[in-house]
Amino acid sequence: MDELVALCKRRGFIFQSSEIYGGLQGLYDYGPLGVELKNNIKQSWWSSMVYERDDIEGIDTAILTHPDVLKNSGHENTFTDPMIDCKKCKSRWRADEIIDNKCPKCQSTDLTDERPFNLMFKTKLGPIDDKDNFAYLRPETAQNIFINFKNILDTTSRELPFGIAQIGKAFRNEITPRNFIFRVREFEQMEMEFFVKPGEDDKWYKEWVQLRLDWWKNQGLTNNLSLLEVEQSDLAHYSKATTDIMYKFPHGTEELEGIANRTDFDLGSHTKNQSDFEIQSTVTKNTTSNSKLASLCSESKKWIIPFVIEPSAGLDRGVLAILTEAFTEEKIDSNSSRILLKLPTHLAPIKAAVIPLKKNNPDIVNKAKEVKLILQSLGLGRIILENTGNIGKSYRKHDEIGTPICITIDFNTIEKNTITFRDRDTMSQETYDINDLKDRFREILS
Ligand code: GAP
Repeated sequence: MDELVALCKRRGFIFQSSEIYGGLQGLYDYGPLGVELKNNIKQSWWSSMVYERDDIEGIDTAILTHPDVLKNSGHENTFTDPMIDCKKCKSRWRADEIIDNKCPKCQSTDLTDERPFNLMFKTKLGPIDDKDNFAYLRPETAQNIFINFKNILDTTSRELPFGIAQIGKAFRNEITPRNFIFRVREFEQMEMEFFVKPGEDDKWYKEWVQLRLDWWKNQGLTNNLSLLEVEQSDLAHYSKATTDIMYKFPHGTEELEGIANRTDFDLGSHTKNQSDFEIQSTVTKNTTSNSKLASLCSESKKWIIPFVIEPSAGLDRGVLAILTEAFTEEKIDSNSSRILLKLPTHLAPIKAAVIPLKKNNPDIVNKAKEVKLILQSLGLGRIILENTGNIGKSYRKHDEIGTPICITIDFNTIEKNTITFRDRDTMSQETYDINDLKDRFREILS
């Protein structure tokens, strides 16, 4: 983990937030390469959910959330972690971090009893500081999908089964944020709520577990994934069944994504006139919603509250897993080694670096600029001109940040119209006619 964290900082992937003021725990900022990597993961998820299917719509909702939403969703009462304080060193722990009744920091056994700690952040709305005038920062993106169910139904004429996908920030006041970007207080989720007829939920649940596992494999996670069926006693209050996709992170094997069968709990809890429907789960009694979150069943002609299958992935955990898997230290010969990120090309922050052999030769530099523009115009991602005058150093840098291809512009480019492609993983070099530039590049990136 330490090497990965150092690389992320050194190369501009991820920085501690508010670092110049000593940092804020559990908060990170993404730098120029981090934001590209994150955007590429989001793009790949969005494509697989919204563009490549015909049964999912996208949405982007507010972060500040009405207190009634999170009251009726069960978060006000149940979204808590048990917390224990050490009376001696004043450190604070989640109860599951205490082993043998000892403080993990100072080993004292003088500890407080467990107390529930709600993980939601609150903020006031408007200028008046009144205890009833507040909103929550959403702890999951899902709730705002549920409360928009009718809007989507009315505007798209969807019938079951169909899904609503969203990528966005979520906030949790974690007691002990740790392990770099694994457990943080502000993070992004990629969530999709798939609405199905009751009775078809088990089938769709299994299908989504497989689809999500395959998607992570396509992001280059081929070695360290596993599935964990969550024990009944550990299920969230809304869930009938949950499977976690686990990844072997540097600090241990932990959850990357959860796929839950949320039954009719959420739509049922947010709907008005609940007694008009055959709701199967124990919902929160709701007297304040003004909408029925139901779908008209074309066969029975009855209004039903759909069941929901939810694949919920953490984007930041995705970044950590993808970087972990890609991080490679390789011997070049008996005296030297190199670090490289073997990222899949669709996720690489920089798709190609165009490198002039001579920093101050105007013919070579201008040609390199031309090549950069040609590649950039293909719209396949970020291309950079790397004019350091030191080819070896540029190769090392681009290996470390996962750039799949370095393209060298030299005297032959000017005289013979040729360019040289250097492959990140094999370090092999091949020379092409400049007229083949676009086709060759497209081929590599596909
Ligand atoms: N809507 C369901 C839900 O939020 P969750 O298991 O609490 O379920 C889903 O969270 C995913 O969000 C997790 O699998 C994880 O990837 C990510 N996640 C949760 N808490 C996180 C945190 N404090 N820091 C980073 N990612 C987190």
